[in-house]
Amino acid sequence: MLGRLVTVEGGEGAGKTTQMTFIRDYLERKGYQVVMTREPGGTPLGEEIRALLLEPRAGGMAPSAETLLMFAARAEHLEQVVRPALSAGYWVLCDRFTDATYAYQGGGRGLPLERIAVLEAWVQDELRPDLTLLFDVPVVTGLARAGRRGATDRFESEDLAFFERVWAIYRERAALYPERYRIIDASRSVEAVRAELETVLAKWLEQQ
Ligand code: TMP
Repeated sequence: MLGRLVTVEGGEGAGKTTQMTFIRDYLERKGYQVVMTREPGGTPLGEEIRALLLEPRAGGMAPSAETLLMFAARAEHLEQVVRPALSAGYWVLCDRFTDATYAYQGGGRGLPLERIAVLEAWVQDELRPDLTLLFDVPVVTGLARAGRRGATDRFESEDLAFFERVWAIYRERAALYPERYRIIDASRSVEAVRAELETVLAKWLEQQ
């Protein structure tokens, strides 16, 4: 693979989507060609699966069905978008990836992490993110910000304990993979977060 896979993660209302274009513009200024995308989604089929996953539904969804749908969307995304872009030398900037499955389906829903690891190996082979920017904002603040955006989706309507479990897994994974994780303090202003992103990205690029 010639390009690099950069993923952006965090809880609800962490402001990561707002900063995606800033990260893309920064990388482009440094001379890289960037494909910006998201999960679940990023392809026509993936976006249809995303709608199924996010729309509130009576009776909920079995955690294993939810997980398999995440990986179905991911398989399509990898095949149609991510692998071709990386092979052509593009950098792929992805709003959420498999760390979100560990955090939400593993932590939030309580699905055994080993099962997620099996699907990860099956769908991705060796492909893992080169860099993961984890947007850190207190769960309560993030939920208040997300609530302000209006209608809540199937995940946003979960309770505080769910998001505490999500965050615990993100924290655990950041500690497990310090070489690729960088934690961004996202509780501050948009400008302060941008400044931190610039510093972190510059330092990471230097190390490559
Ligand atoms: P977004 O809010 O970042 O657009 O992501 C949509 C929701 O999907 C978010 O609540 C997190 C959730 N999600 C999972 O539960 N598992 C996953 O693997 C991914 C990629 C997202």
